[in-house]
Amino acid sequence: MLLVLGRRVSLSFVKRVIPQDPVLLSKPILQNFRTIKFRVIHSSTVFAIATRQNTDTMPERRPFVRLPTDVYPVNYGLCLKPDLIDFTFEGKLEAIVEVNLATNQIVMNCADIDIITASFVPEGGEEINATGFNYQNEDEKVTLSFPSALQKGSGTLKIDFVGELNDKMKGFYRSKYATPAGEIRYAAVTQFEATDARRAFPCWDEPAIKATFDISLIVPKDRVALSNMNVIDRKPHPEDDSLLEVKFATTPIMSTYLVAFVIGEYDFVEGQSSDGVTVRVYTPTGKAEQGKFALEVAVKTLPFYNDYFNVPYPLPKIDLIAIADFAAGAMENWGLVTYRETALLIDPKNSCSSSRQWVALVVGHELAHQWFGNLVTMEWWTHLWLNEGFASWIEYLCVDHCFPDYDIWTQFVSADYTRALDLDALDNSHPIEVYVNVREVSLSDECKPRTVDLWDCLEQASGKPIALVMSSWTKQMGFPIIVVDQEQQGDDRILKISQKKFCASGPHNGEDCPNWMVPISICTGEDPGCTKLKVLLDSPETTITINSVSPDQWVKINPGTVGFYRIQYSSAMLESLLPGIRDLTLLPVDRLGLQNDLFSLSRAGMISTVEVLKLMEAFVNEPNYTVWSDLSCNLGVLSSLLSHTDFHEEIQEFIRDLFTPIGLKLGWECKQGEGHLDALLRGLVLGKLGKAGHKPTLEEARRRFKDHVEGKQILSADLRSPVYLTVLKHGDSATLDTMLKLHKQADMQEEKNRIERVLGAISAPDLIQKVLTFALSEDVRPQDTVSVIGGVAGSSKHGRKAAWKFVKDNWEELHNRYQGGFLISRLIKRGHCIRCISKVSRPLDFFHILLHYRLILKCIK
Ligand code: BES
Ligand code: ZN
Repeated sequence: MLLVLGRRVSLSFVKRVIPQDPVLLSKPILQNFRTIKFRVIHSSTVFAIATRQNTDTMPERRPFVRLPTDVYPVNYGLCLKPDLIDFTFEGKLEAIVEVNLATNQIVMNCADIDIITASFVPEGGEEINATGFNYQNEDEKVTLSFPSALQKGSGTLKIDFVGELNDKMKGFYRSKYATPAGEIRYAAVTQFEATDARRAFPCWDEPAIKATFDISLIVPKDRVALSNMNVIDRKPHPEDDSLLEVKFATTPIMSTYLVAFVIGEYDFVEGQSSDGVTVRVYTPTGKAEQGKFALEVAVKTLPFYNDYFNVPYPLPKIDLIAIADFAAGAMENWGLVTYRETALLIDPKNSCSSSRQWVALVVGHELAHQWFGNLVTMEWWTHLWLNEGFASWIEYLCVDHCFPDYDIWTQFVSADYTRALDLDALDNSHPIEVYVNVREVSLSDECKPRTVDLWDCLEQASGKPIALVMSSWTKQMGFPIIVVDQEQQGDDRILKISQKKFCASGPHNGEDCPNWMVPISICTGEDPGCTKLKVLLDSPETTITINSVSPDQWVKINPGTVGFYRIQYSSAMLESLLPGIRDLTLLPVDRLGLQNDLFSLSRAGMISTVEVLKLMEAFVNEPNYTVWSDLSCNLGVLSSLLSHTDFHEEIQEFIRDLFTPIGLKLGWECKQGEGHLDALLRGLVLGKLGKAGHKPTLEEARRRFKDHVEGKQILSADLRSPVYLTVLKHGDSATLDTMLKLHKQADMQEEKNRIERVLGAISAPDLIQKVLTFALSEDVRPQDTVSVIGGVAGSSKHGRKAAWKFVKDNWEELHNRYQGGFLISRLIKRGHCIRCISKVSRPLDFFHILLHYRLILKCIK
């Protein structure tokens, strides 16, 4: 079972970048930067899963081995001097280490780094120079050899090294930006999760090997230099007065993947949380105002989490910084959280409601990690789901606290819950826990939880068999479909319930169908918001009696849409639920859940599409944004599928008919007293009507677009996406040119992204080609190329073919850019399935997609 949580989990942490030519392995890496061709393979069990189908083409891999624990770090004294012109850096490491077991070798992680000198100074003893550095490039390790054994006890390991500020958005890398005057410059920034700290300095790059860090940066004196901790000293560099040496306070004991530094030009806004933490939001220069919204969220959220976890945030400061080139959405580095610009910056005039909501969720997510992940860290990457799972859930708590009017928990059901069900129903899903290599002896298990520890605690607190129930969910892939039928017996309702594995590709027919321990709750029409009965289904089928239910009352399973399963009702039961949708007596999450279940059943070929369309018609009176959003997304999938058939025009008509009443009710102008959800709903409905060719909407969109372009009446931020989409969908080459001009003129990344995402809607084949070429141009930031190509792939039959051909034709360039990271998996996913824009806007994509990646590689070859 993948659960909600998988969406943030990327496989990048199990990748390995290795030189293709084994002869190069022992040569210093820097010399080879321009000659080595990299290829990506995955390690560990996940690797094994991925290659099972194509072992014939893949080379044998040595089994993965964790670092030896005979020498481990206590404190890293680290000084780095980046060169923002030549894109290199020099580093000096002085690590206090503990030798557990006498040895004449130290094995550390190290990748794309050239060691110049290394030595070991035993406490109170003589310095011993290392006599060899043996790089095991494939394993991203280096073995330092010493002429004599290092004895048990403390000592200092000294290493001088050099590296490259790469352009791959991982490790210590360069990020391009333009000054307000338009000059192109570079910042030096980091992204270490999961295993890229080793690209910035030799280290023990495993989450359980924690140490303290004393970091110094030598930087041009006109640049901002930031790291996890506050600055404690700043002095001119003795040899070069254009440089400053900035020293940061000692960190708490922490994992390497959470270390960060940033050197660049930024402005900031500052606040103080009620519990005394200094919060700063760093923005590109001249845009400090755009940091205010995130600052407000962070200042409110820190004390909320302090109370909620009952543990204070341990650092004196936290910085949130927007980085121009950033592969993920955001990263929770302790005390220095990095974000894509669009996940942090809000302009009061030019940002739309969905951007605000996204920023609030991302800030809430990364701040939750300051506790879940940073303070308490998983013992090994196998347990990463504990990290990402909790943060992905707690971000909603935060947003609900800061913005109760967002009704964010209903949105959770559509954005996270149903999305997780969709993915986990695929044949290439995986259990929550994927064994990423063997678990070896760790230094100390304190504060390094494993999944079983969580179940133990919950079991003790509840007195219930949590571990037994939960292991059926975390260790098995997928989830069940619950098949229900009913019979009235006097005053009682008898339910016949059975379970079998739900598969997106059709019902599970195999003999060995897995079983789950399924907590099932049931409500009736008498009180739709209240659970009448709870049972634990622990067998393939059972019969349940609900007392005193009159024959005219409906019975519904899974009130609140919280259980992780799909439901298939008998026709009569389903029929009895329809009036509850029409008259809104069923709760919004239940209306949403019913529709979503039925849609996925039809997608799996288990029921006819006509049944879903009939159900959708019952939503004529629907007022709820999230319900519409989910339904609209599913209709989008259907419409894409039908674009391959003669029914294309019919489904457009169906969409127009379904959305016209709500469109008329909402109109184009924001009315007094409206809030966040009304703005979201208006954008959704007008976009849907426009795209489906609803004439009055198309005409009005064209009129407003013209006024916008001519500067007569600037479109409100919330109307831009639907208007851009509508005019492009029904536009010609002049429309595309105007849109590209707007893109060039846009100062905000949010606006550029907004345009990039809809460009693919253009219909003419030659214009589609133009959009694809644009995707790889200098005008699109590397991390955003995928959404342009994805937009093309998701918009039409021709677009999908053209995008796929484009990916194949440009594979080398794309592969070189993303190096097997999560952006490439996102690209492949976009090329292959059809999802609506709202659901693919998350920057990170699913775990299992990378498993596809290898097959696709093969296919392209
Ligand atoms: N820690 C992750 C980012 C990450 C995970 C980087 C695995 C590298 C490997 C971060 O907390 C995260 O989940 N980021 C999300 C944004 C979030 C709000 C959903 C992302 O980048 O999509
Ligand atoms: Zn996260």
